[in-house]
Order: sequence, then structure tokens, then C-alpha cells
Amino acid sequence: MNMNQEILRRRTFAIISHPDAGKTTITEKILYQGKVIREAGEVKGKKGTKSATSDWMTMEQERGVSITSSVMNFDFRKLRVNLLDTPGHKDFGEDTYRTLHAADSAAMLIDAAKGVEAQTRKLYEVCRLRKMPMFTFANKMDREGKDPLELIDDVEQTLGMACFPVTWPIGMGDRFRALYHRLDSKLFLYTKGVELPEVIDVKGPADPLIEEKVGTELFELFTENAQLLDEALVSFSEKEFLDGKISPMTFGSAKFNWGVDLFLDIFSKWAPSPGIRNTTDGPLDPLHPKFSGFVFKIQANMDPKHRDRVAFIRACSGKFERGMKVYHTRLGRDLRLAYANNFMAQDRQTVNEAYSGDIVGVNDTSNFQIGDSVTWGKDFKFESIPRFSPEIFMRLSIKDPLKRKKMQDAIGHLVEEGLIQFFYVPALGRQEFILGAVGELQFDVLMYRLRDEYGLDVKSETLPVQLARWVWTKDGGLHFDVPKSVDQIYFDNSDKPVVLLENEWDLNWLTKDNPELVFTPSAVYTDHT
Ligand code: G4P
Repeated sequence: MNMNQEILRRRTFAIISHPDAGKTTITEKILYQGKVIREAGEVKGKKGTKSATSDWMTMEQERGVSITSSVMNFDFRKLRVNLLDTPGHKDFGEDTYRTLHAADSAAMLIDAAKGVEAQTRKLYEVCRLRKMPMFTFANKMDREGKDPLELIDDVEQTLGMACFPVTWPIGMGDRFRALYHRLDSKLFLYTKGVELPEVIDVKGPADPLIEEKVGTELFELFTENAQLLDEALVSFSEKEFLDGKISPMTFGSAKFNWGVDLFLDIFSKWAPSPGIRNTTDGPLDPLHPKFSGFVFKIQANMDPKHRDRVAFIRACSGKFERGMKVYHTRLGRDLRLAYANNFMAQDRQTVNEAYSGDIVGVNDTSNFQIGDSVTWGKDFKFESIPRFSPEIFMRLSIKDPLKRKKMQDAIGHLVEEGLIQFFYVPALGRQEFILGAVGELQFDVLMYRLRDEYGLDVKSETLPVQLARWVWTKDGGLHFDVPKSVDQIYFDNSDKPVVLLENEWDLNWLTKDNPELVFTPSAVYTDHT
């Protein structure tokens, strides 16, 4: 296969969901169908903790969580699929957001009984910023849940994204019988405990064969819905899908493996190959023959004995070869990517080549920061990964004043690495350490590393703050003065003005009192807020 064919068969995606919606379960079923694992149950440990990629840090073992987002890849039909794992539970953090920046599409998994939940909404915001194509899988159809039409309405109302149901469920809970494929006019009949569905070609939703298979009551309900769908729902447009405005939706049960095959089928037909990425030098074609990429994640101390770090690079053009020389645009010099590893489940496999769309893990001796670009020698940078509003804020202090400088350096280093966000009051300068994180685990890792790596004994105080909002004028310029209704303006690590707020209520006041300003939940200007 030549380079272009290799790139065009890449499909890099991530699953977004709220904890407990079934992400681990569906990942396991997808990997099973992709033949990465031989037996269901390999991904999920007995106590419900993920067993993949977990012995890198002592803390990971202590906590029984997987801190890193790993990458799994497999061949499906003619495609090479890269599935990026987005940490979800307690380990939810900025890594989760950044992983989405490395994906070309996302699958939103929702619990059919609960609809769109908080964490999904937050993650969806990142996808929306990137106008990312999005698939939707309504899970747990083996249980009683919301009416499918209500679910569609929920997605549309909550996220402002239209849904296009490719399949339609017939029955729900104990009465779930089948999925009807609306585009292929096929009926997929599922039975608990039977691995493969019975697939029947039908002449359309009114075909009496369906009634024969599912019974009169379910059939009548189904035909009623089918008619409603045809009348009420928008038609599918590929352009709108690629712009993230309409989402192909399907239903099923990850637990019983219902509809996962159909999801993969829809995914393999519609998911986009690596797209054009914006750079400071204009748009870059993924088929450009020379290798380039950006760092979206740094994993430190995988082996504490060696203090090694791994930089995860999303390849955006060309072909990567083990040991190749690249140009590091921030440092302005060439660098040899000496050891490349590919991360799949528990194994670090050595990769000899990778293509645009793939993720490459390279061993790093502190040359890389999150957002760094590597190119074939040309001086450009990829569009940056925005910082998103932290939700937990702490003020850190150190007892021993002699260690203040060391603390400043350590924090500076960890902030640059992207572990945590830093804010300061202009009048006090960078002397005071106000730190923010999206997830609690980020703070745990911070404290652990300050102690373990830097030998610093640090005191932390939680601040009564839950939101950060970056402050702009209507035309997208930064606004440095203190807005009305708050008494302080802060700066972030890049000296951009931010307000820190206690709750949504305060945000409402702030917005009302300052109609001439725009407050954004990420460090990039967007006009939809
Ligand atoms: P997460 O990674 O998104 O947090 O979810 P996970 O897959 O761990 O699933 C959370 C719970 O939901 C698990 O139950 C899992 O079995 C269940 N689940 C996942 N998909 C389905 C589904 O399609 N139908 C039903 N009925 N349940 C589903 P648990 O009780 O926490 O664990 P377990 O003992 O069942 O493994």
C-alpha cells in the first residue's frame, strides 16, 4: 500500500460519555470485534477498574485507575482504526479534553435512560469548538429508558446538534427485539445470549415480515414512529455531519453486544479520514508527503527509575519512521525521535512507521511541551489546544521560605507540561500560586509529583471558586480591566485576563452587568457564549 492509501484508511476517534454510561463496556466490545482482544472481559478488571495501562505510576496502582489516555488500534474491514481512550471517572481531567484535539471524529455514548449528562456536555463543547463529526450511540436499550424520540429531542435541545437515526429500536427493556436499519431496509433481530443477530432484508418499515418477527403490538408502535421520523426529522447531509451539525445515531446495548456491530458498520462507512489541520502557515493537507504533527499529551515518570517522559504526537501529515529527524519549531532546531512506542492496551509496542492520523509515543528528555509542533523543517505551528475552565481551584503555599524559588520552578515546569493551570493576581505577580484543574486527580498527581520529584512539602487550600472565564471585547480582543460585579482580575500563565467565579449565579450577574464583554470558558475567543 502506498503512503496516500495508508493515510486515507486511517480513522482516529474517541468516545465521549458520562461515567457509567458504558464506555468501558462498549470499548471492550469494539476491541473484541476488532480482534484486539480475544475474550470479553480483558479490558475491565474484576472490581470495575480498568486494567489497561495501569502500572506506570505507583499512584495508579494505589488508586486503581488509569491516569493515561491510551491509544488502541486495530484493522476493521480495510480501515486502520485508532481509538483514543478518554479518561472518564475520577481520572477525568484536561487530558480528556486534549485527547479530543487529536481525534478526527467522536462517538457520543449516552445512557438511554438518562440522556445527555453533565460530563458529556462538557466534552461535547470541545468537539463543537473543533466542529468535529460526531456519532451517537444510545446505550442500555436492554433496560427501560426514555422514548427514542425523547432522546433525540434531548440531544437536540441540550447540545443544539441534530440527530439522524440510522437505526431504530423495536421494543425496549425486556421487550427489546430488533434494530431496523432505515437506510439499508434491514432488520437485525437480537436474542439475549446469542452472539450474532439474525439479519433479514425487508421492503421497508411497513413490511409485514417485520410484524411476523416482532409481533403486532411492537410493529404498530414501530410503524407509527417510522412515519413520524420520516415526517419530522431533518434529512441527512454529509456536509453538516462533517461540520458536526448532524449526528448519525444508533441504538443498542453494549452489555449484550446489540447494535455494536451496526455502530461499527456506520462508523466505517461515514467516519472521516484524517482532515486538514490549521497551522500558522495555513491549512495543511494530511496527504502532504512529509511528516509533521503536534504533541497533545505528555506522560511523565512512566518508569520512576528512569524519570522518562513520553510525548504523544498526533501525526498530521506524511509518514513517520522510527529514528527520523524532525524540526521542533518552538526550539528552532532538529531533533531525532529516537524511540517510538505505540500504546495498545498493556503493551508498549515498538513502532517502525506510522502515518498521518496515527498517534506516536516518543521518549522525551524534556524537549517537549503540550502543543509543540514538529515538522519536516518548515517553521509553522499547529492550531493550539485551548485551555478549558478548571472547576477546582487551590492556593498552594510552602512552609520553608528558602524553597520558594524551587517551588516556582517546579510549578512552572508542571504548568508548562500541561498538568495544571496557573493563575495570578497582577499586583502580586507570579509569587502566589493559584492553581486550577478540571479533575481532582490532576491535583493528586500535582501533590504527588511536588513531593516525589521535587521534594517539596506543600500546603494546599481549596478556594471557593468553580469557574474561570476569559475576558474579551466583542471584537475578540483581550480585556484587561476589572469587569463590573467582580473585584479582581487574574491572569493565566500566558498573561491572558481571566475572572474566577464562585458559581453559575455569579456568572449570570457578570454577563448581565457587562453586556459589552464576552466571557469564554476556554482560552480562545468564540462568539457563541
Ligand atoms: P463507563 O466506562 O462509561 O463508566 O461504564 P462501564 O462500561 O463501566 O459500565 C457501567 C455499568 O453499566 C456497568 O455495570 C456495566 O455493566 C453497565 N452497562 C454497560 N452497558 C450496559 C448495557 O448496555 N446495558 C446494561 N443493562 N448495563 C450496561 P456495573 O454494575 O457497574 O458493573 P458490572 O458488574 O455489570 O460489570
